[in-house]
Amino acid sequence: MDIISYIKKVPKAELHLHIEGTFEPELMFEIAQRNQVKIPYNSVEEVKKAYQFNCLQDFLDIYYAGASVLLYEQDFYDLTMAYFKHCAEENVVHTEIMFDPQTHTKRGVSFETVISGIKRAQDDAAKNFGITSYLIMSYLRHLSEEDAFETLEQSLPYKHLIKAVGLDSSEKGNPPSKFQKVFAASVKEGYKIVAHAGEEGPAEYVWEALDLLKIDRIDHGNNSLTDEKLVNYLVENKMALTVCPLSNTALRVVDDLKQHPIKKMLDLGIKATVNSDDPAYFGGYITKNYTEIIEALSLSLEEVKTLVSNSFEYSFLDEETKKKYLQMVHEN
Ligand code: ADE
Ligand code: ZN
Repeated sequence: MDIISYIKKVPKAELHLHIEGTFEPELMFEIAQRNQVKIPYNSVEEVKKAYQFNCLQDFLDIYYAGASVLLYEQDFYDLTMAYFKHCAEENVVHTEIMFDPQTHTKRGVSFETVISGIKRAQDDAAKNFGITSYLIMSYLRHLSEEDAFETLEQSLPYKHLIKAVGLDSSEKGNPPSKFQKVFAASVKEGYKIVAHAGEEGPAEYVWEALDLLKIDRIDHGNNSLTDEKLVNYLVENKMALTVCPLSNTALRVVDDLKQHPIKKMLDLGIKATVNSDDPAYFGGYITKNYTEIIEALSLSLEEVKTLVSNSFEYSFLDEETKKKYLQMVHEN
């Protein structure tokens, strides 16, 4: 079987996906209309044209503006269900979904509204498509640690629905150390820990995420490669990176997919995975991330199997379920 057919068919896990980043312009228009919220675009084409970014902040401004039409439980259900339909089409059998409560609670939408809509879609996706999913509640790093503490407090009645906490939004100038206390408190509550680090920020931020936040997995982590000691640490400790190729080119973290560092990461022995980050904004869901990076870097079937295996191995699934999927990766 050729590699492209393999990647389309094989069961996959996605470990880095922002649910607000799956908001397709068509659905955005539909929800804006039914909620009678004005958006600064006249057509779907106009929205798509606005998706040209020079850096992370360019994207975040548009991403938060788009999310502002989400008001009711049904909106969060529709958003999440649309993503699960993509998963079903692409053989994503397990996904660990990030959501940004503060993007919504800051606008007066309750934590309960957000999580109830997402949870109902998770239940329906499990029932109808057999897809399992976990939630990662992400703190917005451009806001204060006090704000994050408030979010942690709001999450506690729903703790059984949330697997991990994360850290996202504007990286530069907002180092992991700013959130050391709230992550320690989150660990105490039983949450697993991830954080965006080394996307636009330096390798030093990756060290901080490891040493101060005690992370279980790194989101992006590209800039780790500038620090040899850090690379050795990641390899020795099997610390996985959730890499997002199309996000990296869309946000100019990487100039060209041909220069993408994921092959180098594999060569060094880093546990890299492939993910879509914000697929509605960056031009493709997980399969497209795989196929484009396979073509740009001429990845071998062996390398692709390693990437897919890593997506299960470094998920938060239990060991028995991991084993079942890992067997399928190698049988396919
Ligand atoms: N929020 C959504 N996508 C993000 C990204 N790629 N980096 C930081 N914050 C984000
Ligand atoms: Zn991300």
